Amino acid sequence: MTHDKRMYAPAAERNKDAIYACLKERLPNSGSILEIASGTGEHAAHLCPLFPNIDWQATNFDEEHLTSAISWQEHCQLENFLPVLSLDACSNLWPVEKNNYAHAPFDALFNANMIHISPWAVCEGLFAGANRVLKTGGKLFLYGPFKLNGEHTSESNVKFEQWLKDKDPSFGVRDLADVIKVASANNLSHEESCGMPANNFIQVFVKK
Ligand SMILES: C[S@@+](CC[C@H](N)C(=O)[O-])C[C@H]1O[C@@H](n2cnc3c(N)ncnc32)[C@H](O)[C@@H]1O
Repeated sequence: MTHDKRMYAPAAERNKDAIYACLKERLPNSGSILEIASGTGEHAAHLCPLFPNIDWQATNFDEEHLTSAISWQEHCQLENFLPVLSLDACSNLWPVEKNNYAHAPFDALFNANMIHISPWAVCEGLFAGANRVLKTGGKLFLYGPFKLNGEHTSESNVKFEQWLKDKDPSFGVRDLADVIKVASANNLSHEESCGMPANNFIQVFVKK
């Protein structure tokens, strides 16, 4: 095992049980799931033992998070926690689309806290890729804050959006209607909205 480079994100610790409660009602008993932007890798580390018959493909874009998620995968020593891959959601060819990749197409995609803290093109890339790698009937679980009908759902999200915009003007809490438009353009329909802690949601989309 390489030197322990596991990182810890307090938010992931806080929301992991609520995410599990939502997924357990909606994932099949067995299959495969692709996680885009796994961050530290803690969600995969928490959820793999809870879904022992689901192969979990964690991925990351930035090097620091990639290193952390690899370290979590090595630490967990679980058969269904697959070796972590480097993946840019904006790419037209994700590594899981290559011929020698065994776990695609996927039953589900999971993505948390990415589309508001990256340019809009990353959201478009996420849905374009979901259309390419999900099975028909497969689901995309999209966790994060959303505006509803152009309005923030809480005062704390107003402040959060200002913080995001100060960081980068292309970031921002996305309006659910805009996200649904991108989903429709990519063959996915919005199925349900699950309330999560701290004014977040999991938006569930289904591949047609
Ligand atoms: C706030 S972190 C969320 C990490 C984790 N999902 C969580 O909820 O703890 C945002 C993540 O989005 C990733 N990200 C940004 N642009 C991306 C892209 N083009 N493709 C894939 N991931 C991207 C970042 O590398 C970072 O890991």
